[in-house]
Amino acid sequence: MGFAGRSIISLHDMTAGDLNRIIEATYDTKSGRESGFLRGKTIAVMFFEPSTRTRLSFESAIQRSGGTVIGFANPTSSSQSKGESFADTIRTVTGYCDAMVIRHPVEGSARLASDIATVPVVNAGDGANQHPTQTFLDLFTMWESFGRLDGLHIGMLGDLKYGRTVHSLATAMSMFGARMTFISPHTLQMPDMIKRELTEAGIGFREVRQPEEAGDDLDVLYVTRIQRERFGDPQEYESVAHSFRITSETVRSLGGRVLVMHPLPRVDEISEDVDLLPNAIYFRQAHNGIPTRQALLGLVTGGIS
Ligand code: NCD
Repeated sequence: MGFAGRSIISLHDMTAGDLNRIIEATYDTKSGRESGFLRGKTIAVMFFEPSTRTRLSFESAIQRSGGTVIGFANPTSSSQSKGESFADTIRTVTGYCDAMVIRHPVEGSARLASDIATVPVVNAGDGANQHPTQTFLDLFTMWESFGRLDGLHIGMLGDLKYGRTVHSLATAMSMFGARMTFISPHTLQMPDMIKRELTEAGIGFREVRQPEEAGDDLDVLYVTRIQRERFGDPQEYESVAHSFRITSETVRSLGGRVLVMHPLPRVDEISEDVDLLPNAIYFRQAHNGIPTRQALLGLVTGGIS
């Protein structure tokens, strides 16, 4: 399926071919072969939940490709604070733009918006569910580092229950025959639904409690923070907060060649001494959010064909 006019809501709607096309378009954008493809387009960026990287990188991506941004960073500055429904906001804004980017705390909200809008909707994170554009930039960063995605061994560590980035990433990596090791406290394991999906796809995975148990052949250690805001009970959060701290010693114990990734923001799960190692690629990863989001918006608006 082509990309023009298409909403990007979940990795479950995508194929390996789609992901390869996004990586290729990101490469063309980063290398300057594609540029200016959002000229004359208006993109609405609507954030109903806090963000630094995702929102600013979308806004920067739009401007760097010649497009215009409208939107809000905070729902209290929109008419939702006057009691307007989410559906009415979408019905209105769809007439003001060529595509919309939405982050919202409720799972399924991006899908709902795409059912209402007449322009493509890009999900920039819906609750604990999915975060597809983070996965695209993660895939691009791995592809840039290894020259391939096929058959990598990836360890995902941290809050695998509430972390939407690892949900999208596990589904995506399964399309490339990855091996996965899930590292989390028992109460924050990868949801059964995703584990079932991996089993059905014939993807091997293991579940362990600490990074040292992941073996010494990981290609990538993908670290995530414990998602404090998604816990109903603060005591439940406290019982698992600070469960991990990746140090340069941990990196050595994993064989020393593992690449350490993180969607950011980091709290205390990676110590700053790791930043100095060549293994630490999380800031390059964050910077890849620009060409990735440029390319994706180019594809869905038809500016890149
Ligand atoms: C992630 C998110 O919002 O899910 N942040 C991001 O977009 N880079 C990860 C997180 O908040 O922990």
